[in-house]
Amino acid sequence: MSSARSDEDSVDWVGCLTYKSVATATPSARDLDILAARARVRNRSLGITGMLLFEDGCFLQSLEGPPRSLSALWASIKRDARHNHIEVLSEHIASARLFSEWDLLLDGRADSTPRVTGAAGTLPPAMAEHIARLVELALNADDQRVNAMIASFADQGWTSDAILSLLIEPAARALGDAWLDDSCSEIDLTIALSMLQLAGHAVRYSPSSQTIRNSQYRILLATAPGEQHMLGTTLLADQFLEAGWQVEMAFPDSDEALTNQMNAQHPDAVDLGLSEVLPRIGAIERLRSTVKQSRQAAGNYPTVISVGGRLFAEAAATAMSVGADHARTGLAGTSVRLAELVQKSRKL
Ligand SMILES: Cc1cc2nc3c(=O)[nH]c(=O)nc-3n(C[C@H](O)[C@H](O)[C@H](O)COP(=O)(O)O)c2cc1C
Repeated sequence: MSSARSDEDSVDWVGCLTYKSVATATPSARDLDILAARARVRNRSLGITGMLLFEDGCFLQSLEGPPRSLSALWASIKRDARHNHIEVLSEHIASARLFSEWDLLLDGRADSTPRVTGAAGTLPPAMAEHIARLVELALNADDQRVNAMIASFADQGWTSDAILSLLIEPAARALGDAWLDDSCSEIDLTIALSMLQLAGHAVRYSPSSQTIRNSQYRILLATAPGEQHMLGTTLLADQFLEAGWQVEMAFPDSDEALTNQMNAQHPDAVDLGLSEVLPRIGAIERLRSTVKQSRQAAGNYPTVISVGGRLFAEAAATAMSVGADHARTGLAGTSVRLAELVQKSRKL
């Protein structure tokens, strides 16, 4: 038994797990420090490294280490009453660690100041470097190197979810920040985003469950009316197609155009995407009205309404205020979560 353990744990492969969760009570800065200090001691003894972010009432944690130790720790973390609504964003095996220098790097803010979570500067150097490199290649319109970079992460065992949530989405936000502080022009931004879009097409998704495939669910993937950034919507299209959904897309310029399309198609779910690049803080009111009209257009047909974009990635709580059934805080795993919601809505 003990030799089996050491055999499995002594190979070079490390298990990697990234999840997000919601804090059951807002921890103070001191609470977070205590949590991280205790966690570091245990992580060190288990050979686990990682990072923990706390922001806007949510935790985001990446952990990596010997698979057996990781699952023991994961069992403890999952039953910890300090958080709930735990959602695994990625789980994979890799040949090298990203956080090799940290037993647990803590980046937390007890206040609710909005922070650019995807900006390279807030991430550990290994990740920040990858994102900065991707941004640089995208700004240089170097599609070959962008694609080669994404392919090399996939070859190392990164899942599609990890590539989306740890590389492409942070890179898109970093590009948005570069544009906001005038470090790049609008045309540079547009070209760079199309590079990320191309790279996103190369991401390989793992097959979804047969149940979802057999259900032949239909989704309308739409940019929120008037939204000109379509990176999120187009990357979702690949994900949903790969998962066996029937996909329609829309880039409507008005609520009316959107609701016409909904009336014509009666999708099982509709996703309304704001920019993945810019925070669009001012878009809430308008989106609330779009959601309301979409619900009216759905009529008696049980259409699940999902919203997403950088705004929701950085302040998930905003989701509730627009009246949607679901707000994605990232692109990863959306097809699975919406399938669950559609299934649930059918049972009501
Ligand atoms: C968001 C969050 C992240 C945590 N991360 C770690 C961690 O990386 N390492 C760790 O030992 N404990 C971590 N903990 C604490 C564990 O959940 C648990 O309390 C601790 O490992 C003791 O485990 P036990 O209750 O099974 O003895 C975390 C708790 C929370 C709420």
